[in-house]
Amino acid sequence: MSEHGGNIIGISQQYGLSADALIDFSANINPLGPPESVKTLIKNSLADIEKYPDVEYRYLHQVIAKAHKCDETKVIAGNGATELIYAIVRYLKPKRALLLTPGFAEYRRALQQIGTKIIDYPLTEETGFQPDLRLLDMLAAIKPDCLFIATPNNPTGLMPDNQVIQALVEYCEKNGISLIVDESFIDFLPDNRGLTPQISTTKHLYILRSMTKFFAIPGLRLGYLISGNTTVIAEMKNRREPWSINAFAAKVGEILFEEHDYIAATHQWLKSQQHYLWNQLSAFSELTIWPPSANFLFFRCERPEIDLWHALLKHQLLIRHCKNYAGLDNRYYRIAVLSEWENQRLITAMQKIFSYS
Ligand SMILES: Cc1ncc(COP(=O)(O)O)c(C=O)c1O
Repeated sequence: MSEHGGNIIGISQQYGLSADALIDFSANINPLGPPESVKTLIKNSLADIEKYPDVEYRYLHQVIAKAHKCDETKVIAGNGATELIYAIVRYLKPKRALLLTPGFAEYRRALQQIGTKIIDYPLTEETGFQPDLRLLDMLAAIKPDCLFIATPNNPTGLMPDNQVIQALVEYCEKNGISLIVDESFIDFLPDNRGLTPQISTTKHLYILRSMTKFFAIPGLRLGYLISGNTTVIAEMKNRREPWSINAFAAKVGEILFEEHDYIAATHQWLKSQQHYLWNQLSAFSELTIWPPSANFLFFRCERPEIDLWHALLKHQLLIRHCKNYAGLDNRYYRIAVLSEWENQRLITAMQKIFSYS
């Protein structure tokens, strides 16, 4: 099993700690918690346990389609974006795929399971860990069947340049390369609608969305995939395992798009706390930090003798080390933006570790 953030049970067992006492900066989940309406809906829907959910998730698909101003034939919901990463890979069966590194681990696992040849495109410090137009040269040279790109990327938290994204969409469309754009964190960027408006003019663009991070429901699980290629969407719906989305998650998905106050409150929290963490972390001469676009920050510790992950764990703070990401090593870390008091605790602990106090 590959390693992910949020492994609070595993870590607490391994280190003999109480899981409840740990503050989890390793998973990028909205600290406001789910909207109140979600908890109320679930409490009021307990009787649904004894019924199968609609096997076609008709209403859920309609609601998602409405939110993105498209037709429901362009939408498939899943048990988190993760289910759809595996489903699209199984459907497309790419022989060759290009992956940007560092990147989210599940693209690689899904591709490995069907024996795809994977070619890495390393994002390096020299280009600010960002893809540029040289990526198109690489596509022309290796002619892959598919490319995954996350906007913003995990673990770097960086949003690729819009011109680069547009050039990719056009190039992939023209050359029949399946472009899978993972917008799982894009809701955290208040002014960015992502690529869903472009599905009416594309057939090779697949957009992944997750609801688990922004709406703080990773345990409930919900995500979706949008594409202008209705044949692929229909066939994925045909082939999927039935009832993979539980009844509560399906019902919750039907109300989340209406949570305008919660969405605004999330953007307000993030603006202030992202700014706070960026300022505070930038003040440590021991760290090199990259400018965040979403609800997490990526940095490197320039003091190789300090194992920040273990040092912070002693303060009951769990962060994500990035040593198992291709292209990174044990100097790199990622932290989620949490609530004000939690972020302050992290900064205070770091000041102690770096002997500022
Ligand atoms: C970039 C990215 N895509 C997709 C996912 C999976 O999200 P979900 O919880 O909806 O399966 C994650 C989870 O960390 C992620 O970081």
